[in-house]
Amino acid sequence: MKPWPHCQSPREETVRARRDFAWPKLLTADGRGIAFGGDYNPDQWPEDVWDDDIRLMTQAGVNTVALAIFSWDRLQPTEDHWDFGWLDRIIDKLGKAGIAVDLASATATAPLWLYENHPEVLPRDKYGHPVNAGSRQSWSPTSPVFKEYALTLCRKLAERYGANPYVTAWHMGNEYGWNNRDDYSDNALEAFRAWCRRKYGTIDALNQAWGTTFWGQEMTGFDEAFIPRFMGADSMVNPGQKLDFERFGNDMLLDFYKTERDAIAEICPDRPFTTNFMISTDQCCMDYAAWAEEVDFVSNDHYFHEGESHLDELACSDALVDSLALGKPWYVMEHSTSAVQWKPLNTRKCKGETVRDSLAHVAMGADAINFFQWRASAFGAEAFHSAMVPHAGEDTKLFRQVCELGATLRALADAGVQGSGLAASDTAILFSAESEWATRSETLPSMKLSHWHDVRDWYRAFLNAGARADIVPLAYDWSSYKTIVLPTVLILSDADTRRLAGFVQAGGRVVVDYATGLLDERFHTWLGGYPGAGDGLLRSMLGVRGEEFNILGAGAEGEPNEIRLTGTGDSSTMDGAVTRLWQNDVTVAGPHVQVLATYAGEEADEWELDGTAALTRNAYGAGEAYFLGCDLGVSDLTRFVSGWLAVQPQSSRQPQVNSQSQSSRQPQVVGATPDVLHTVRQSDDAIFDFYLTRGRSDVELRGIAGEPIVLFRAERGSDGGAYTVHRNGVLVVKRPNPSL
Ligand code: GLA
Ligand code: GLA
Repeated sequence: MKPWPHCQSPREETVRARRDFAWPKLLTADGRGIAFGGDYNPDQWPEDVWDDDIRLMTQAGVNTVALAIFSWDRLQPTEDHWDFGWLDRIIDKLGKAGIAVDLASATATAPLWLYENHPEVLPRDKYGHPVNAGSRQSWSPTSPVFKEYALTLCRKLAERYGANPYVTAWHMGNEYGWNNRDDYSDNALEAFRAWCRRKYGTIDALNQAWGTTFWGQEMTGFDEAFIPRFMGADSMVNPGQKLDFERFGNDMLLDFYKTERDAIAEICPDRPFTTNFMISTDQCCMDYAAWAEEVDFVSNDHYFHEGESHLDELACSDALVDSLALGKPWYVMEHSTSAVQWKPLNTRKCKGETVRDSLAHVAMGADAINFFQWRASAFGAEAFHSAMVPHAGEDTKLFRQVCELGATLRALADAGVQGSGLAASDTAILFSAESEWATRSETLPSMKLSHWHDVRDWYRAFLNAGARADIVPLAYDWSSYKTIVLPTVLILSDADTRRLAGFVQAGGRVVVDYATGLLDERFHTWLGGYPGAGDGLLRSMLGVRGEEFNILGAGAEGEPNEIRLTGTGDSSTMDGAVTRLWQNDVTVAGPHVQVLATYAGEEADEWELDGTAALTRNAYGAGEAYFLGCDLGVSDLTRFVSGWLAVQPQSSRQPQVNSQSQSSRQPQVVGATPDVLHTVRQSDDAIFDFYLTRGRSDVELRGIAGEPIVLFRAERGSDGGAYTVHRNGVLVVKRPNPSL
């Protein structure tokens, strides 16, 4: 395994103890290359199709596949009978063709005989009903019986393939928790009680944490601690208990992953392990900041959003993945060549997006581009999901695009992109899985809150302002950034609030929004006025104090559904901005607080908000702290970012043109503009600039230094330095690293 090349990133110092990263080798002469391929399910096809698969894979430049993800029943057709023959044959065929195998632990789906013999391994839903077998992940991660069977399979696979030169990585499970995130079985109940005991030590501490004096639910021992099973219609679950149950579910699946991984590692210690995360801005299954510490390389599954936010959403999700990978390369384990089949309406990708999306992942730090799946299934639940080889076969637009992508990735690898790290931004938007789980509670002032969506809106606002932010887990060390944004980080512990205040004291800039810092990690509200995190430290840092929330959006007849903002003093930056969800009625309490915008107008007056501060800035220590007291849409956030944070594109429509005074031999590299997503990957000796158009129009880029490596839906002008990049186009340029 290759050591990682050095890359300058503040993220390198961000994390606690974790496994050293290791990257799977390819079967190329030096083991290097951008990995390209997908999930391969040869067990769905007669063996005579396999040779055709290999021929087409070779044609497309596929150099890796993820194999046997759902093949347990083929490997162990009955409890006493194992059949590895077919897997031996296909691994051998693939390897001889130079295609590396990322071999699954195959435990994502269990054979039916296991459920028949041991129905107790099935999870239970919140009503206490056993989940029926017949799909994926129909197993309880806390079932000792299931674990025993799963580990036997892991060991068998490790013994058989641990030394196989074609198996270069282990793909553990598949999307842990997608179908069995919440298990209400008796196994889970017992494990939850043990988990609570470990975490809290005494029942008094647990009673306090869950606030069980509320509705008279005090427990006298851990055997009275329950998982939040259904308690009758309209019964609200204790939100502290529910949050702990979320953490517990995360921990149990992570433990299960580690146990499986270690069973294989004992026999086969020298191949890297991963499991595919599910990071996209509509999902928050797991606390991946904890998972990332346990994989040898970070890998993710990402499925696109249709419409205008397509690229932004992809980049936003990837920004979090890249932080989890500490700015080192990571793996796209799955994305789609075009439509999926699991939405009510399954839109195709638009012109150029099949190749563009993959290149966008590379632009955001990926060194491996893989799809679900290689060949479209002829039957089953996913037959209408797009694939690398569609139902119509090789003579198709889609397969030709797959081949074009393979060649493009090869060109990027040849140019040395592999191993380069994504350059960090000076702004971090903080992400907290716990805050996302908490915003889903039905006990909050509004059920329209979403931490992740607010993170995404801020991310897009920075892109609109011509800048790119990083997305960094709250748990990490973000102190080397210049600006930190906390969008609906509902839960802030005392320790995190102190870190934040220390960061601002030392000269940092912080933006805190309307629903940040309301709760502590037990789901207790911080008292004394909102946002009270850190026993009022957050309030003092911001210089504001809120008494009530103003919640809109219920659609009540005759009530306003939005409130307008107006700038104060000389500033009109926020004039006409609109809030539609949540406003804080803060009073300003501090000698250094500047009010930058207030609520105004008839609607504001009706809710007693007229003249109330909506946006403030406080000088605190050597830094500054902004408070945005209401939700805003992306375009209004953009105004704030480009106006108050003074984040400006280097120019708007046309990226920078060299002025006469600048040396034409050393053109300035164009920075980001709102029209392009510009990212920089750097290795020891080279810098790669990626430019991807964000809108519908062509973008002219001038003053770009370096040699073009990729021109996808882009052309170079006759004067050499100018480029036109079309909709969904990508330009990649290589230049020497000046730090050498
Ligand atoms: C009911 C209950 C109270 C309280 C309120 C809240 O009236 O009796 O205990 O839950 O609803 O509105
Ligand atoms: C997930 C799974 C795959 C497949 C795809 C379909 O990512 O891991 O097996 O079901 O979804 O989009």
